[in-house]
Amino acid sequence: MRQQVAAANWKMNLTITQAEELLNNLLQQSKQLSDHQKVVFAVPFPYLALAQSKVNSHPNYFVAAQNCSEKKSGAYTGETSVEMIHSLGVEYVVLGHSERREYFSESNALLAQKVDMALSYGLTPIFCCGEPLNIREAGTQNSFVEKQLKESLFHLSAEQLAKIVIAYEPIWAIGTGKTATADQAQEMHQHLRAVLAAQYGKETAGIVPILYGGSVKGSNAKEIFSKPDVDGGLVGGASLVAADFTQIIDALK
Ligand code: PGA
Repeated sequence: MRQQVAAANWKMNLTITQAEELLNNLLQQSKQLSDHQKVVFAVPFPYLALAQSKVNSHPNYFVAAQNCSEKKSGAYTGETSVEMIHSLGVEYVVLGHSERREYFSESNALLAQKVDMALSYGLTPIFCCGEPLNIREAGTQNSFVEKQLKESLFHLSAEQLAKIVIAYEPIWAIGTGKTATADQAQEMHQHLRAVLAAQYGKETAGIVPILYGGSVKGSNAKEIFSKPDVDGGLVGGASLVAADFTQIIDALK
């Protein structure tokens, strides 16, 4: 079975005390996961080491950075390199979240460089894609998201692509309480898998987990995750509440 992932995206929230409390809560009640199920905490940079030390003793629990530099090292004040993230034992990095694309002008071409840098250190990118509302209303979401994948990922070999996790997050559903329906998610995920299959073959396309993100909650996770091409979720708001995120972990196939 393809990997199923519940990824928490804390964004720019929580103090260190709150972060530790939330991790303790979640890990204390952590249930035994099946081999194909994974939980990933994408925490702010200052908490990466703490979070990594907490998940170390919990099989199938991992930590992600929320971004990284495309540069290797050097005079880039305020940036964080993949080498630094890797040196903490962190294994994932979220790339191309719509908030980074919108507020920090991250382009598909820049993201291609970040993907390469992450893979060169063996980190798994959780690569985000998704369309804004006007594109959805115009009905051109499939080609919009397809372009994001092509321009940031299609320079990779099949072997490299097989290491990527994709998160489809329609921007109109992020933090709005307006979730895509399970059918809308399935439709896009199926399309993305077909796009991957056309470029890399069915086998490789069948390996890549495609997560859904955008107002996933404890109450709707099960229905969304039950769709055949939805392999879990990337969760913002509901990942900050232990009881909600536990329900989301429980909803994994
Ligand atoms: P949300 O955020 O769950 O709060 O909608 C999802 C995300 O931005 O990853």
